[in-house]
Amino acid sequence: MLNIILFGPPGSGKGTQSEKLIAKYGLKHLSTGDLLRTEIAAQTPLGIEAKAMMDKGLLVPDEVVIGMISSALEANPEANGFLFDGFPRTEAQSVALDGLLELKETQIALVLSLEVSEEELVKRLLNRGLTSGRSDDTNEQVIRARIVEYHNKTSVVADYYRKFDKVNNIKGEGTVDEIFALLCNEVDKYVS
Ligand code: AP5
Repeated sequence: MLNIILFGPPGSGKGTQSEKLIAKYGLKHLSTGDLLRTEIAAQTPLGIEAKAMMDKGLLVPDEVVIGMISSALEANPEANGFLFDGFPRTEAQSVALDGLLELKETQIALVLSLEVSEEELVKRLLNRGLTSGRSDDTNEQVIRARIVEYHNKTSVVADYYRKFDKVNNIKGEGTVDEIFALLCNEVDKYVS
């Protein structure tokens, strides 16, 4: 089983590259952002609570996203491996994920960390906000709040996995195909 975390700040290309990676390597894509947006669209109590946080650019509480990931892992017993996108986002989520994978007698093989400058992130997200309908993309202040949240709470996730020598930094600027090739170079080391 090959389990990968695709890591990086908002707008670094995690969703874009996830689509290509799952197609190439046959992994199950687990994006907590997508799972939360599904809850919002269905107007569940969880979705309504999460939307209030997401619209301010703030992280949703750990227990909410850990619960969603736990259910998603349970729901996919046949998966050959998982690609985690937007999760874990705090050290507590990292510890919880390691515990959940241990129960399945597996672990994270590698963390691919996309590196993109802040100005490029803001430019990409404002541009996406013109058409995406994502309320957290339309306002530059909210986009910058998401980036601050990333620096304050999420960048420690890379430090956590660096202790286990699992992090690869990938230049996240260039064409989508150029970045995909860099990611594949790393993943191929784990695929026989
Ligand atoms: P989430 O949905 O995870 O959003 P995010 O991390 O802010 O990331 P994005 O989807 O905005 O960007 P991305 O890195 O996937 O880039 P993409 O490929 O889309 O989270 C949203 C919210 O949910 C959070 O703020 C939080 O409130 C909550 N949440 C989610 N997970 C949570 C968790 N674990 N714990 C707590 N709260 C959580 O690309 C962005 C744009 O750039 C696109 O338009 C794309 O076409 C373009 N683009 C991509 N690659 C390139 C390129 N190479 N060159 C030019 N443009 C490019």
